[in-house]
Order: sequence, then C-alpha cells, then structure tokens
Amino acid sequence: MNILFVCLGNICRSPMAECVMDSVISKNNIKGVTVDSAGLIGYHTGEEPDSRMRSAARKKGYTMRHRARKVSSDDFANFDLIIGMDSDNISHLRRICPKPEYLKKIRFIADYFNGITGYNSVPDPYYGDEKDFYKVIELLENACQTIAEDIKSE
Ligand code: 4NP
Repeated sequence: MNILFVCLGNICRSPMAECVMDSVISKNNIKGVTVDSAGLIGYHTGEEPDSRMRSAARKKGYTMRHRARKVSSDDFANFDLIIGMDSDNISHLRRICPKPEYLKKIRFIADYFNGITGYNSVPDPYYGDEKDFYKVIELLENACQTIAEDIKSE
C-alpha cells in the first residue's frame, strides 16, 4: 500500500500529513505501507518544508524530513491512495489524472475526519498565522488515525 498526500505547494500541509501518517503507522505497528507527499505546483521543488510548519511540527514532537516535489504522471500509477487537502487540490488532481482508471485513487482528506466540526478540508495555512499551522496538525492527526484504522481493518 502506497499513500501519497497532495497539497498545492508541498511545503506545509502534505509534508506534514506524510510525517503524521508515518508516526501513526509506526505507533500502530503497521507494516507494508509507504507514505510520500507532493505538490500541484513545482514552485518550491527541492525546498524544506516552510519554517512555520517545521516549528509547529517540532513543538508537537514531529521532525519533517521531506523535500518538496511536484506531482508526476507516474504517481498515479505508483500510489494506491492519492489524498488531497482541499477541494481545489481534488479538482486539480482529477484534471491531471492520466487514466480514468486512476480516478478512484483520488480521495479527499476530509472524508477521513472523525468528529471534526467546522472544517471540511485542511485549509491552506500559507497566508495564515501560527494557530493555522497547529490546526493543520490537529486535523491531520485526526484524519491519519482514521486512515490507519481503515488499513488495519482491510
Ligand atoms: P501548502 O501551502 O499547499 O500547504 O504547501 C502552500 C505553500 C506555498 C504556496 C501555496 C500554498 N505558494 O503559493 O507558494
């Protein structure tokens, strides 16, 4: 099982999702799952995650190691689940999906929210403040727990 998290820039939300998912996978002793992340724009390719995201991550006990990369056509073949962070990400992923049979791999992170009220996406924190970065982590911890439970029950 290969999971790809996708956001716009691949420097805030999706590398954070990758990091949280890796942590949930190891805490739950789940084997055979690989996790990666990518962005829909290549603008930040090769960069470390945003320093504000890294700082919030560190305070929550996470170390982010990802370097930004753009989603590629091969990703649609190589990953089983391609999870977008907001509805723009989902429509963009659908537009660039190279084969109709891969469309079913594209999922919305909010479909994994469990008991979250007031949010129907993981909002882009890029133009936000510190609390928006912590909210990203909180929403992702919730969703990744559900993803892990789905994997365990399969
Ligand atoms: P992300 O946040 O999609 O969560 O990585 C963003 C990062 C960069 C930009 C937009 C969103 N940008 O426009 O450069």
